[in-house]
Amino acid sequence: MKNNNYYITTPIYYVNDQPHIGHAYTTIAADVAARYQRQCGREVFFLTGVDEHGQKVQEAANKRNVPPKQHCDELCQRFQTLWDRLNISNDDFIRTTEERHKKTVQYVLQKLYDQGEIYKGSYEGWYCLPDERFWTEKDLVDGNCPECGRKVQSIQEHNYFFKMGKRRDWLIEHLNTNPTYIRPESRRKEVLGFLKKNLGDLCISRPKERLSWGIPLPFDEGFVTYVWFDALINYISAPGYPFQEEKFQAVWPASYHTVGKDILTTHSVYWSTMLDALELPLPQSIFAHGWWTINGQKMSKSLQNVVEPNQLVEEFGVDAIRYFLLREVPFGLDGDFSHRALIGRMNSDLANNLGNLLSRALNMINKFCGGKTPKPEITGKGDEELKSIAGEVVNGLEEQYERLAFDKILSSVWKLIDYTNKYIVVNEPWALAKKEEDRPRLNTVMYNVAESLRMAAVLIYPFMPQTAKELADQLGLEADVAKTSPETLKEWGGLKPGQAIHSGQALFPRIDEKKAKKILDKVESAWEQGTKEDQDLLTIEEFMKIDLRSGVVVEAEKIKKSKKLLKLKLDIGSETRQVCAGIAESYEPEELVGKKVIFVANLKPAKLMGIESQGMVLAASDEGGKVVLAGYDQDVMPGWKVK
Ligand code: MSP
Repeated sequence: MKNNNYYITTPIYYVNDQPHIGHAYTTIAADVAARYQRQCGREVFFLTGVDEHGQKVQEAANKRNVPPKQHCDELCQRFQTLWDRLNISNDDFIRTTEERHKKTVQYVLQKLYDQGEIYKGSYEGWYCLPDERFWTEKDLVDGNCPECGRKVQSIQEHNYFFKMGKRRDWLIEHLNTNPTYIRPESRRKEVLGFLKKNLGDLCISRPKERLSWGIPLPFDEGFVTYVWFDALINYISAPGYPFQEEKFQAVWPASYHTVGKDILTTHSVYWSTMLDALELPLPQSIFAHGWWTINGQKMSKSLQNVVEPNQLVEEFGVDAIRYFLLREVPFGLDGDFSHRALIGRMNSDLANNLGNLLSRALNMINKFCGGKTPKPEITGKGDEELKSIAGEVVNGLEEQYERLAFDKILSSVWKLIDYTNKYIVVNEPWALAKKEEDRPRLNTVMYNVAESLRMAAVLIYPFMPQTAKELADQLGLEADVAKTSPETLKEWGGLKPGQAIHSGQALFPRIDEKKAKKILDKVESAWEQGTKEDQDLLTIEEFMKIDLRSGVVVEAEKIKKSKKLLKLKLDIGSETRQVCAGIAESYEPEELVGKKVIFVANLKPAKLMGIESQGMVLAASDEGGKVVLAGYDQDVMPGWKVK
């Protein structure tokens, strides 16, 4: 960290679709880190934004039949509205269509071009359209994109290249000497593995005739900038590179780039080498988090299981979502989202353990201590343990935030909350309140409980800002939790005795069985519907199993006693097949001889009206029984494959 500055980023999200839980995840995580660092008194710059250029966005706009800029404006608004709802405290929001960004991108391109780091070459290889990435033959896995597994297209064109390959050894060295550059460790190893292979140069342009929606290259009007080259520069364009030198110098290098595991290569390899070419220092760390599946399945539109963050907020409230996403799964690993697990955690961790602790504590302070936090007097059972658990939580924080170990932070805060609940049970304040001579001990117990809750308010603030403020208000705290450094919690006893408490609403309502069932039924029926629709769809592999061929009718005759069926003999190249076709009401046998038809060659043989049928001819039919054989608009030979 440079001086007292902390600069954290999220990826900039493509505006080709609505924001979903995966986008919300990274943004919430970065927000928690930013809020904690602000509490610690650091100068924080927290950046998020949207990635508005490239093929995906252009296609999404085309699909909606609106100009790309209008599409971006509308979708960008959805991200911004969602971040407001999720209480995201970003200091800046960058859009790659903004002038400030375009100017920086063009500056970078010109600078690297002048330095001889960008050259014109010819490209021949494979291109993954959805990922907008180029691959060489040997990168492909079973002929498909190694990142997403989808089909790639063969491509040949002139383009501009950035000299990335020559920086391979330097980057390996950087990763080896900076073990925390890429986190978690398993991901650093993955990148080192990737770098073992030869590293090519990076194609950074797209010919305008193929893609117009991008930033024009300053040195060749015929091309626009490759969307990844454009997008990565957002991390320096937003803080002002190179036009606002002072502002930029104050924040760069970034402390953390938080990204999903799927975009680690672009960040660790493309971005690092770009920065090196610009002679800028590298960020301190790039953290790659895992992916969420939904009830064990990949999130997908066709499954209708895309978890929409706005709906979650409506149903469960913003803080419960923020808490769940970071508590349920260690940041860095993949996790499974289920509404059932979310309800479980809300009821146990939030409503029971935290919510009940506060309402019990405030009730007792009202009842036994005149509604004011008492002054501690006599130490006793559990005091030391309570203080030592609190100490452990606070002492571990800095290092856990450094590793973005959010689940660990929360589980240790909940250890304190759980122990405080036990502390009440062990000390039985209701029994102490019965005897005047036990009052000094009662005062200590209630003070300690309130002090523990004060700590909890400060500690949960980055994760649940609204709840923390509500907790602090009910406890009657004067200090703003957003500005209370967790460092100050190292010493037990910061709570001022004599403060009036203000009991209010329960922090989290329990979701009872009935409500839980209603929510789960709703989610599951949407999910089942999606799965059913998905099952009705054929995969390309399933379709390819059907052996469709061209065939020529060589014989045709009526079948006795059948009004509909004709017996046909078809030449299908390799052999002659006999089939029964339900076309007798629309065709006379004589007019069929010589006709070219489409034939399903791998259908299980069947007997129709006692006659063997080995396949099927394709035809269209209307409701009234009229049948028209499917055919070709040009001549074909028997036995050709129909695809
Ligand atoms: N525009 C690029 C990033 C450019 S950054 C200079 C991009 N955008 S994205 O919208 O497709 O994805 C943004 C982030 O969402 C990625 O970090 C990705 O990992 C994350 N997620 C998308 N689906 C996800 C889950 N199912 N679970 C968790 N995160 C996921 O890539």
